[in-house]
Amino acid sequence: MIRFATQDDIPIIVDIHSQSLSEDYLPKLGKKVMHGYYNTFVKKNPVILFEEKKCIIGFAALSICPICLKSVFVKYYKTIIMKVLLQPDLWCQTLWLAIYSKRHDYDYPEISFIAIEKEHRRAGIGSQLINWVCNFLSKKGIEYLQVKTESNNTLANNFYKKNVFNVVYVEKRFKRNFNIYLREVKSGNS
Ligand SMILES: CC(C)(COP(=O)(O)OP(=O)(O)OC[C@H]1O[C@@H](n2cnc3c(N)ncnc32)[C@H](O)[C@@H]1OP(=O)(O)O)[C@@H](O)C(=O)NCCC(=O)NCCS
Repeated sequence: MIRFATQDDIPIIVDIHSQSLSEDYLPKLGKKVMHGYYNTFVKKNPVILFEEKKCIIGFAALSICPICLKSVFVKYYKTIIMKVLLQPDLWCQTLWLAIYSKRHDYDYPEISFIAIEKEHRRAGIGSQLINWVCNFLSKKGIEYLQVKTESNNTLANNFYKKNVFNVVYVEKRFKRNFNIYLREVKSGNS
C-alpha cells in the first residue's frame, strides 16, 4: 500500500533515512536534527510511504514548497555546532544550505530523498513510489519531476535512468558533482 505520511510516521522515516543514506549530510547531524527537519518538511510537503503488512519499508520525500532550513538550524544550533566541530567536512555544506536552502534548480517539485529498507530493495518498490509521485503530480497539472544525486552514486544514477529521468545539469558543489535529473511526469516507466 502507498499512502501519505503523517507526523506519527516521522520516527520510522528517520530510521530508514539514516540507515540508507548514512553518509549523507542530514544523518551525520543525528536523529534529533532529522526529526526536526521532517517535522518542518511534512507541514508543507508530502512524504509518500510504501507499507506492507502494516510495516513501512520505504519512503519518498517530495519537496513542492522548499522549506526554510534556517528555522531548523536555529532550533538545533547547539547540536549542529557540536556535530560540525566533530566532523569539519560538514562546515561548508551547513553554510551552503543555510544560504541556498530555499533555492530550487528548476521550478519543479523535487524528490529530496527516496529510500527503501535494504532487505526489500531491487523488488520494484522504489520505482512504484516514483510512478505514484508522477501520477500524483500529473493530476495536479505539473509537467516535470526533478531529482538530484551525487554523480558517483552509481546505484541512484542507475535507478533514476531506469525510471526515465534525464540529466539536465551537473551542479558543482565543493569539489563534488551532483547530477540534476528531470522526468516528464507523463512518461511511462521503461
Ligand atoms: C535507490 C533505491 C531507492 C532504489 O529502490 P529499489 O526499490 O531497490 O529500486 P527498484 O527495485 O525499483 O529498481 C529499479 C531499477 O533501478 C536500478 N537499480 C536498483 N538497485 C540497483 C543496484 N543495487 N545496482 C544497480 N542498479 C540498481 C536497476 O536498473 C533497477 O531495475 P532492474 O531491477 O530491472 O535492473 C534504493 O536502492 C535505496 O534505498 N538506496 C539507498 C538510498 C539512496 O541511494 N537513495 C537515492 C538518493 S536520495
